[in-house]
Amino acid sequence: MNGHYSVAIDGPSGAGKSSLARRCAAALGFVYADTGAIYRTVGLAVERAEIDRRSESAVTELLPQLNIRVGYDEHGEQHMFLNGEDVSALIRKPEISLLASDVSALPAVRAFLLDMQRKMAREHDIIMDGRDIGTVVLPDAEVKIFLTASAEARAERRVLQLKEKGIEESFEKVLEDIRYRDKQDSGRAAAPLRAAEDAVRLDTSDIDFQESFRRMSAIICRALNISLPEEAK
Ligand code: C5P
Repeated sequence: MNGHYSVAIDGPSGAGKSSLARRCAAALGFVYADTGAIYRTVGLAVERAEIDRRSESAVTELLPQLNIRVGYDEHGEQHMFLNGEDVSALIRKPEISLLASDVSALPAVRAFLLDMQRKMAREHDIIMDGRDIGTVVLPDAEVKIFLTASAEARAERRVLQLKEKGIEESFEKVLEDIRYRDKQDSGRAAAPLRAAEDAVRLDTSDIDFQESFRRMSAIICRALNISLPEEAK
């Protein structure tokens, strides 16, 4: 331990990582770090630069020109800044999800973002979610959770989430995108999505948000030997 608690949450797209991690962080008074948002910011930068997203050399050349910063507002919400501009809303577009998945397969991109993520964990009690947090970014995290759900359950939730943001997408298209990202995230050579050996698995296919929150909070509090917040009982 580095003086702060680290909780690593990994799993495929749409398993509910961000909403659950955010909720647990709020209940426990930890900082929530969404690392997908950081990869999405690189994806947006690649889209804007109009370079080939799969070309490691073109993307590598772009990286030193990027100033990527994570900030938090007064509600504890994470914001992403790209060269000083708040791009938090722009990175949620569906096409950026696919771009983020493409650029995140490039080892140069992963290396570029590693220190930023580790630094956040050194400075705060943190719940960090992503794909390789328990395996690569924070291998010494006190708690590791691998969160899963069936592709169909994840697609259904994603459609609703997008709808709430005013983005209309069909179930079939979202399911197709989820399968594409699952395959790409699990099959890539650089930091593929897999559970750390010491991760606790939590499958949320058949349980609702509140029950998932209760179970996740219980796993974390038991491992850290801290008391369970009233709202998670
Ligand atoms: O979590 P989110 O869907 O926002 O992540 C967008 C993409 O970024 C994922 O599909 C994944 O390819 C990539 N990613 C990653 N490693 C992380 C977080 C996200 O490769 N730690």
